[in-house]
Amino acid sequence: FRQLALAGKTALVTAGPTYEPIDPVRFIGNHSSGKMGFALANALYLQGAAVQLVSGPTALQPAYEGIELIRVQTAQQMYEACISAFPAAAIAVMSAAVADYRPVEAAPEKIKKTGSGMELQLVKTPDILQSLGSLKQPHQFVAGFALETTNETEHAMQKLRNKNADMIVLNSLRNKEAGFGVDTNAITIFDKDGGTTTHGVMPKDAVAAVIVEHIIQKLYAPKV
Ligand code: PMT
Repeated sequence: FRQLALAGKTALVTAGPTYEPIDPVRFIGNHSSGKMGFALANALYLQGAAVQLVSGPTALQPAYEGIELIRVQTAQQMYEACISAFPAAAIAVMSAAVADYRPVEAAPEKIKKTGSGMELQLVKTPDILQSLGSLKQPHQFVAGFALETTNETEHAMQKLRNKNADMIVLNSLRNKEAGFGVDTNAITIFDKDGGTTTHGVMPKDAVAAVIVEHIIQKLYAPKV
């Protein structure tokens, strides 16, 4: 059944990888399965939120018909969907693994194998979390993720500050039961107010429920 802590509120979630085309058959992508983002969308829905889920290419379906799913391929498309949905959102949770760079242009035809090497020129994609962080109004709560392999805490804190997020959820690829693809995750939550909370390995559904509980507490905490 649906609990109603988030009734009347809209939540925007990103999930999955982005695919940045090189030519009609190749792309730059990553190993995100979308499981964490879909679990978050389900958990927000179960708390009564109206959920808009913007997902890169995945094989997943949301667990509930009421979740609005917007499928995209590229970082630019994900950015545009998020910018248009964000004004109506009270909560945004950016769990997608967005490509930081894309080819300057996608070749119109399949690139042929010619010399012994090839160079691909890349340009930065828009940073969606940072953009929402800079547009954020006082009634909006923006959460991001940090996927790290080294200096995890330092990088997570940097992302919290640089992207003007209210919280960052750190998961480390050093833990084989966390991060990409697997059904479990292990996280540390870094709050804007300096708090940190660590949770051991759990199924992604349970991790999502914990993250949503955390957001609810912060959303309704008296502002100081
Ligand atoms: O999909 P799964 O297989 O379940 O795996 C889940 C996950 C590991 C992908 C997920 O838990 C996770 O960590 N997502 C963020 C991955 C990532 O790209 O992290 P980052 O440290 O590079 O990015 C930091 C934050 O900025 C993230 O919230 C990301 O969504 C956001 N970002 C990054 C680049 C960009 N151009 N736009 C963004 O919004």
